[in-house]
Amino acid sequence: MEIVILPDADEVGRVAASVIADVVERKPDAVIGLATGSSPLAIYAELARRADAGELDFSHARGFALDEYVGLDYSHPQSYHAVIDRTVTRPLHLDPALVSVPDGMASDLTVACAAYEDAIDAAGGIDVQILGIGANGHIGFNEPTSSLASRTRIKTLTPKTRADNARFFESPEQVPIHCVTQGLGTILRARRLVLVAQGDGKAQAIAAAVEGPVSASCPASALQLHESATVIVDEAAASLLRNADYYRYVWENKPGWKRY
Ligand code: GLP
Repeated sequence: MEIVILPDADEVGRVAASVIADVVERKPDAVIGLATGSSPLAIYAELARRADAGELDFSHARGFALDEYVGLDYSHPQSYHAVIDRTVTRPLHLDPALVSVPDGMASDLTVACAAYEDAIDAAGGIDVQILGIGANGHIGFNEPTSSLASRTRIKTLTPKTRADNARFFESPEQVPIHCVTQGLGTILRARRLVLVAQGDGKAQAIAAAVEGPVSASCPASALQLHESATVIVDEAAASLLRNADYYRYVWENKPGWKRY
């Protein structure tokens, strides 16, 4: 894995945005895997700035969200349909017809999950997947003990994840218990992975993901199995990494020809 440690959260967003921009410049109809949560917001803000400045054109790009709550109507402001529309589709001027989010309202969720996998395949697979990380090491909504081979399916959120996400809802009880999420196996099929984390609340999860054993106990450790995964963190999120000095040395000495 490539581990990039940057001074602050703004810089994390800027460098991660450059990775995405590079993919879209090379392939205007790129398929982008979209994450929700607060971690990637700086990426989207920077990409939106570049799109508004005419430096980037997302009109031919496709998007696939990682996950969705079960039972939240699309009109609910915290449904990931609504969040993706508000924070990604509109600011980046993506074509809404080319942006997909798992269906948490389907009468048959199992069928809907299989259809989501098929849709990703039909689009040619995901070129670059943006990821945040939960404090317990989850990616998407793949909670600890998720199969490393899992595909899009229904999951039960841990009380910790529900508590973490309660800040977006009027009361903690309103956070759904179930969700639909791309699996770890789905995520590993993307051609490129970019995981971002900021703040000391993520330090333990980042240390386990990057330097711990590959284990379903830390779902983000599955990134160690991917041939092109970049983890971009600020100093606080990097604070428990044992080999931080080496990662800084690698980044400082990254040859100019080795683009993002
Ligand atoms: C959420 C999302 C994840 C996200 C994570 C961290 O529940 N399902 O995709 O990466 O938890 O959220 P945040 O970035 O707000 O800390």
